Amino acid sequence: MNETPDTRPLDSAVVPPRPGEARQTGREASVGGHGAASERAARLLKPSGRRGTSGTTPESRAATADQRPAVTPVFHCKDVSVFYGAKQALRGISLDVAPRQVLAMIGPSGCGKSTFLRCLNRMNDTIPSARTTGTITLDGQDIFAPELDVAQLRARIGMVFQKPNPFPKSIYDNVAYGPRIHGMARSRSQLDDIVCSSLTRAGLWNEVKDRLSSPGTGLSGGQQQRMCIARAIAVQPEVILMDEPCSALDPVATARVEDLIDELREQYAIVIVTHSMQQAARVSQRTAYFHLGDLIEIGDTDRVFTNPRHRLTEDYITGRFG
Ligand SMILES: Nc1ncnc2c1ncn2[C@@H]1O[C@H](COP(=O)(O)OP(=O)(O)O)[C@@H](O)[C@H]1O
Ligand SMILES: [Mg+2]
Repeated sequence: MNETPDTRPLDSAVVPPRPGEARQTGREASVGGHGAASERAARLLKPSGRRGTSGTTPESRAATADQRPAVTPVFHCKDVSVFYGAKQALRGISLDVAPRQVLAMIGPSGCGKSTFLRCLNRMNDTIPSARTTGTITLDGQDIFAPELDVAQLRARIGMVFQKPNPFPKSIYDNVAYGPRIHGMARSRSQLDDIVCSSLTRAGLWNEVKDRLSSPGTGLSGGQQQRMCIARAIAVQPEVILMDEPCSALDPVATARVEDLIDELREQYAIVIVTHSMQQAARVSQRTAYFHLGDLIEIGDTDRVFTNPRHRLTEDYITGRFG
């Protein structure tokens, strides 16, 4: 089952429950009455307080999907499948990515989260055996259209990887790299402004303003990751893709990056792959659960964690699987 053809991201079970797996028949099932899942979800959703998935998100403010004004999705993905040679890694994925919202992709290792993320900026093109079918539009434009300039596409989509990947350049040059390539600054002072504002928004300016010409590789892991985020936003992308951006960071650095994600979503659509369900609960407004190449379910993060519709999702979030 796909998301609705209108432009609203909608709570929808994507794969029908398999025999013996159906637990809920609809959204009327009471939140909190769901045994282990709801207990676990209460733990996941409550303690943070740093950021809101509970009660204050755009999705939860709107009481139901039907009352929400139609939102034009940033990405609209329909029936996306990916094959590596003869092996199918993703099966008919349909979902929308909404603006100013964080979509978390969770699921056991090897279920296709990174593969799906790489579809969105056509990074799978760089893998010779990879073949993608289906449709993906970014702001209504087909990203697989033959006339589309892939370099331009990638400039519209920032990407942050699992391990910080600073270029062997100064902090300044790391952040200025994209703006230079894309000719975004007409003068040095304009470039200085872009570097300063990107580092400021990445929450790093005060820590590095006196050593902009030092190598980016000399920063701590958490600082490097924030520098990579500054580098990603320096080209003013429309979307930021993050593939387990905190998995190499300590808890303090992770908290800073999560705070940053929360701030960035005021302006960007963000798709984040995470193996941490606590992180998904803290930073995202919508969650998609993948399993063995299928999108099992997608919906408001609060709902997916408190009232999963599919047995596989529940097993995963309660720690029985994965
Ligand atoms: N470059 C590749 N070549 C062949 N198979 C791949 C490649 N990348 C991923 N796969 C396979 O595709 C499936 C999904 O992988 P991946 O997207 O990395 O999952 P996840 O990010 O959820 O851990 C796995 O079975 C993996 O082995
Ligand atoms: Mg991965």
